Amino acid sequence: MDNALRLQYLEAMGITSWVSREPPQDEITGLAPDPFDGLAVNPQAADAWEALQAEVAACTKCGLCTTRKNTVFGSGNKTADWLFIGEGPGQHEDEQGLPFVGNAGQLLTEMIRALGLGRDEVYIANIVKCRPPNNRDPHADEVASCHDYLQRQIALIQPKIILAVGRIAAQTLLNTDAPLSKLRGKVHTLDATPLIVVYHPAYLLRSLLEKRKAWQDLQFAMRTLQEQQ
Ligand code: URA
Ligand code: SF4
Repeated sequence: MDNALRLQYLEAMGITSWVSREPPQDEITGLAPDPFDGLAVNPQAADAWEALQAEVAACTKCGLCTTRKNTVFGSGNKTADWLFIGEGPGQHEDEQGLPFVGNAGQLLTEMIRALGLGRDEVYIANIVKCRPPNNRDPHADEVASCHDYLQRQIALIQPKIILAVGRIAAQTLLNTDAPLSKLRGKVHTLDATPLIVVYHPAYLLRSLLEKRKAWQDLQFAMRTLQEQQ
């Protein structure tokens, strides 16, 4: 059941008190707190996260800052084993300030569930933190301007495995022009962390037949992580 429907049911049952209509705002970003926030981190790491989040929220390092509604920092468990990295925010993400919350996001959430995990157990970030207009691919200078933020997120999370979600994320992280079909099904590494390339859920929405391949990618990622342990 989707959330809107769930709320309608609850309302019909007279249960409204637990739903805060105006969620408290985060002091730094002005947005509602990350609904997928996982475990607490140690105080030192918490300070580093806060500083990083404040920098991104105020960032004007590239032209995307002029058209964004909100920055999309990333969300989830800051000590996750699994880090998912997408390309950049789309319309819904830009509006809500959260990654992967549109249609593709729902499918990514399903992919995460298929791994036996919830969104509060993984971390999800993007290559660029601001939406490229009309969902165009981010330009090289935008990717370069934004890269330091992602690197700092990776250093703080120290994931056991990184999933590059879709072609743009994969090509950027691996610094290659190779097509996605050549990149999936292999264990790459990013600074000694295993990195697996998976189909982008937006692509799967267009091409349902490819879902099987996506499931193979996830099983491959699971085996890779198991072999690390
Ligand atoms: N696609 C992405 O790559 N990232 C998002 O956050 C949403 C859709
Ligand atoms: Fe800054 Fe990244 Fe947004 Fe560009 S995309 S303005 S570098 S946060």
